[in-house]
Amino acid sequence: MAIIALTYKKLVDRDFKILRVIEREMPRYEYVPIEVIERLSKLPSTHVQASLYKLNRLKLVKRRGGDYIGYRLTYLGLDMLALNVLVEKGFLKTLSSTTLGVGKESDVYTGETPTGELVIVKFHRVGRTSFQRVVLARAYAADKPKISWLYFAKLAGEREYRALEELYKVGALVPKPIAYNRHVVVVKYVEGIELYRYKNPIDPEAMLDKILDTIRKAYVDVGIVHGDLSEYNVLVSIEGGEEKPYIIDWPQYVEKDYPAAEQLLRRDVEYILRFFAKYYGVKLDVEKVLKFVKGELESYK
Ligand SMILES: Nc1ncnc2c1ncn2[C@@H]1O[C@H](COP(=O)(O)OP(=O)(O)O)[C@@H](O)[C@H]1O
Ligand SMILES: [Mg+2]
Repeated sequence: MAIIALTYKKLVDRDFKILRVIEREMPRYEYVPIEVIERLSKLPSTHVQASLYKLNRLKLVKRRGGDYIGYRLTYLGLDMLALNVLVEKGFLKTLSSTTLGVGKESDVYTGETPTGELVIVKFHRVGRTSFQRVVLARAYAADKPKISWLYFAKLAGEREYRALEELYKVGALVPKPIAYNRHVVVVKYVEGIELYRYKNPIDPEAMLDKILDTIRKAYVDVGIVHGDLSEYNVLVSIEGGEEKPYIIDWPQYVEKDYPAAEQLLRRDVEYILRFFAKYYGVKLDVEKVLKFVKGELESYK
């Protein structure tokens, strides 16, 4: 079982309560003073201390000594709070040990819902690359002097979930969104292979057509651009003898009126066309495809 799941099982209500207090106070303190935790949790001091000792040992909080004793949440601590909600609300029952990708910006696990549906559980880890490039650079910083990684991780989770909801609604080929809490997003598991290692396509033209249709729906119907599209963020699943390319990994999307949106759209399209030309011999005209995905042409053929 995953460390995350093993750790989760060791926690009781009191531990979650204390984690929540620390989370809530983190915008105000780098390390939340122990007196503040005691006061806000309304638990006996001995209980708070025992719990904090345990949470620290499990690496869910980080302790600071010195002139005052204080604690702050770690990513693992935040993971526990998100899991707690997803489990209590009945979206998640188990988490598997296989780490699918410990990517730059997320840790991805498979899991199961109480009804046995296979899901992907994605823990956003912000503080790394493209999401920051796009979002950090935006207006958020101005009025919030002390924004932490917590805020950005949660923002990434919410953004990805909301984008998936919109995309799924308009019939784009994306994994079905199931739930999210804080920085954790749960989507339906796609039984498939990443495009970059998919060597013997049945019908590459039809597959490319479906990818372009999703890019177009994202742009025209939802009003967004993926911004990090490549053969690594497409999962090919075979359904009824047909290839279905699902586009995954959306937290860094930008709205189409964002200044760099056009450039990012071109980048996304060029990456995909280059891959299809190089590995499957399918060659399309970039300019025509761009007009098509922007809704300016009804066909790229
Ligand atoms: N819905 C899904 N079904 C099956 N596998 C998935 C799904 N979503 C993600 N994965 C797997 O997890 C990997 C990482 O997911 P992704 O959303 O691309 O996050 P990141 O690249 O930021 O780590 C993917 O490359 C893929 O192998
Ligand atoms: Mg990815």
